[in-house]
Amino acid sequence: MTLDGRVALITGASRGIGLAIGRELAAAGARVMLDGHRSTGALEEAVKTLPGGAERHGWYRASVEDPDAIAAMMAEVDRRWGRLDILVNNAGTTKFVPHHDLEALDLDLFDHIYRVNLRGAFLCIKAARSLLERHPPGLVVNIASIAAMTAVGSNVAYCASKAAMINLTQSLARALAPSIRINSVSPGLIDTDLTQGWKEYREEQIAKNPMRRLGTPEDVAAAVLALATSLPYANGVNLVLDGGRCLT
Ligand SMILES: NC(=O)c1ccc[n+]([C@@H]2O[C@H](COP(=O)([O-])OP(=O)(O)OC[C@H]3O[C@@H](n4cnc5c(N)ncnc54)[C@H](OP(=O)(O)O)[C@@H]3O)[C@@H](O)[C@H]2O)c1
Repeated sequence: MTLDGRVALITGASRGIGLAIGRELAAAGARVMLDGHRSTGALEEAVKTLPGGAERHGWYRASVEDPDAIAAMMAEVDRRWGRLDILVNNAGTTKFVPHHDLEALDLDLFDHIYRVNLRGAFLCIKAARSLLERHPPGLVVNIASIAAMTAVGSNVAYCASKAAMINLTQSLARALAPSIRINSVSPGLIDTDLTQGWKEYREEQIAKNPMRRLGTPEDVAAAVLALATSLPYANGVNLVLDGGRCLT
């Protein structure tokens, strides 16, 4: 199956997992809008790496914390392509804080993680709803984490935000069907900028992983493509993609 004629919007797609998802969906035939928030230059460079390049695809700078910016981004997708078939809520943030150190997890960090990882996904679904319903069934994929199930991850708020994201996926999979399907993908530790600095943690995770390696952004992108093409009955599913790490 191809995604010819389909349109996908991926949040947090200036690099890492989001950009790999953009490349995978573009290679399958979709037109892709990459969202990011800090650097226009990074988005400009990112879009050039998609099959078809900047002529065929687009980028938009909008923080998922900002409802007005999200609304403007959806309006731009509509103006440009007149439809939206796939929304990938991938934008995420975290910082390494040991779980026992409650003082270090200050309220600003706690709130920021929730605003980006959880509230951001909700706001994007809300803003994209009418576009996704135009050619049903639309698809939403929320990028969660195995931290949601294991409660092992960069900090307590991050783990909780991802657990809440899976719960949000389930609620909305029931509430918005049949015009929109909503699923989540829960990766284990993936080799991206986000995890580059966590040397010891990465080594520990590789040693504990039955596959003896970290996941790649392309591993996650393949799961999103499968949900968009070969798994049309999947709704409310949480696809765990961790090489079996949860089993050890
Ligand atoms: N890497 C892992 O091991 C792993 C494992 C499980 C789940 N995940 C999840 O997968 C997703 C992507 O992770 P990654 O490793 O690719 O992260 P990353 O390399 O740090 O990239 C994060 C992306 O999110 C964007 N972003 C951050 N805050 C944003 C905001 N407020 N609005 C819009 N975009 C924002 C960043 O944009 P800028 O470049 O503009 O800052 C960047 O494009 C996250 O949700 C993460 O929690 C990652």
